[in-house]
Amino acid sequence: MDEVSATQPERAARGAEDCVIHTRALTKRYRGGQLAVDGLDLTVPAGSVFGFLGPNGSGKTTTIRMLMGLIEPTSGTARVLGHPMPRSSRAVLPHVGALIEGPALYGFLTGRDNLLRYDAADPTADPRTRGARVAAALDRVGLTAAAGKKARAYSLGMKQRLGLAAALLQPRRLLVLDEPTNGLDPQGMREIRSLVRELASDGTTVFLSSHLLDEIEQVCTHAAVMARGRLVTQGSVAELAAGARGRLVVTTPDAAEAARVLKEQAVADVVVTDDRVTGEPPERDLAEVNAALVRAGVRVRGFGVERASLEDAFVALTGEGFDVAG
Ligand SMILES: Nc1ncnc2c1ncn2[C@@H]1O[C@H](COP(=O)(O)OP(=O)(O)O)[C@@H](O)[C@H]1O
Ligand SMILES: [Mg+2]
Repeated sequence: MDEVSATQPERAARGAEDCVIHTRALTKRYRGGQLAVDGLDLTVPAGSVFGFLGPNGSGKTTTIRMLMGLIEPTSGTARVLGHPMPRSSRAVLPHVGALIEGPALYGFLTGRDNLLRYDAADPTADPRTRGARVAAALDRVGLTAAAGKKARAYSLGMKQRLGLAAALLQPRRLLVLDEPTNGLDPQGMREIRSLVRELASDGTTVFLSSHLLDEIEQVCTHAAVMARGRLVTQGSVAELAAGARGRLVVTTPDAAEAARVLKEQAVADVVVTDDRVTGEPPERDLAEVNAALVRAGVRVRGFGVERASLEDAFVALTGEGFDVAG
């Protein structure tokens, strides 16, 4: 059955079974009254790289902690790999690699010894193959050369990679990464992103939170957008961006005159920056708008509609800008 002809209940029922993460009305109110997550319905398809996007304080980490069984929801349900959480933590968590809010590392141990220790804490891990597992994980994240250095001498990016290596000691069906590039320099961010892509191409579902829109656009196939504890929207990244209309962009040395004409042509939200005039594309034929500019003597050097970004979608959906600070 295709997506379109499936009825709402059919879709919901199928979702609960086939989805790697599925929440219904998931809610967390912290002691003290803070409503951190409010009625969240999240559906993460198998094999996706799923971006969990939202400004700081929008409830991402709280959601992830509920998914990983670290805290109890106030109400609602969460299923991970088809099992209810936190009830099925013991069955589910061995299949999930997680990196939440910075890995816990022992600074006085080397990178390798940190992983050996981490692996030893896993009762299902065979001690005879420990060394090989650790070596493979170090190799995977590009830390082989630095494996003998004490973790406290690692850069933030290296620490994140070591945390990721810990999550990769066992084959995982799901990786949950909470802001894995937070605090990294551009090079470190690129490295983590390419690692995520690599893992996804092996078939692992990756659920990654971020407050950076372009990051989500670069690596994710799907995304959910959070604002103030509530889900704003979710779907494939292509769908989300398509939901927002692009902007009309006119490049001209006669920007002021162009702006006047565009307003006359029912173009809303006209903004002039140097030789670029942008606005919301009107319902009418754009050829007419272009002709009106030319008729008014505006020297049009460029005329077109720029593709909407996820950021446009976010702004359109929430009417808010995106907090990218910190
Ligand atoms: N342990 C806690 N006790 C009380 N409030 C909390 C706690 N953790 C987070 N919060 C609050 O819940 C909201 C969501 O926080 P969080 O889930 O950390 O968001 P994000 O990860 O998107 O930045 C914020 O207002 C935050 O201050
Ligand atoms: Mg967080």
